[in-house]
Amino acid sequence: MKGLTVSSFAFAVAILVLAGMLMAHFGVFGRASTSPNGVIVPAVSGEALAGQAIFEANCASCHGINGVGTNKGPPLVHDIYNPGHHSDDAFYRAVRNGVHQHHWPFGNMPAQTQVSESQVAQILSYVRELQAAIGIHYRPHRM
Ligand code: HEC
Repeated sequence: MKGLTVSSFAFAVAILVLAGMLMAHFGVFGRASTSPNGVIVPAVSGEALAGQAIFEANCASCHGINGVGTNKGPPLVHDIYNPGHHSDDAFYRAVRNGVHQHHWPFGNMPAQTQVSESQVAQILSYVRELQAAIGIHYRPHRM
């Protein structure tokens, strides 16, 4: 009988934790200003705001809301994607041609041909603003 009480308590706690995670995931608590990995999300505007919507529709399933990454793709708000290591051109190429797995263990990125070049430009203003907000700036790439 005692064992039963303890395990049903543990079960209740597990349900609460799960519910909290789901609510956080679906944004029930509103748009947080910090994401799970500590990325501070600036109030973006104009082109970056348009880019955010395009990013969330086409890229976030792998690269995560706010570009923090998922188990299907890397974070783009990451120092290796600073403009000196991955220029804007790398973004146009990734979207047009896809990417062979080389930096990460997530597999290849399929081409995103539904996204136009001008939409990539908008995605770039968004991603570069997020990067700048956490101090990721241009650094010359040295091999
Ligand atoms: C199906 C999952 C998936 C989707 C959708 C996706 N990506 Fe990726 N992307 C990846 C993976 C995985 C990598 C990492 C490849 C590696 O380096 O190992 C990657 C890498 C990249 C890179 C780095 C390219 C390089 O030269 O190393 C850029 C930039 C990028 N993605 C942008 C985007 C943008 C912008 C979108 C939306 C238009 C997008 N991705 C959608 C999975 C995805």
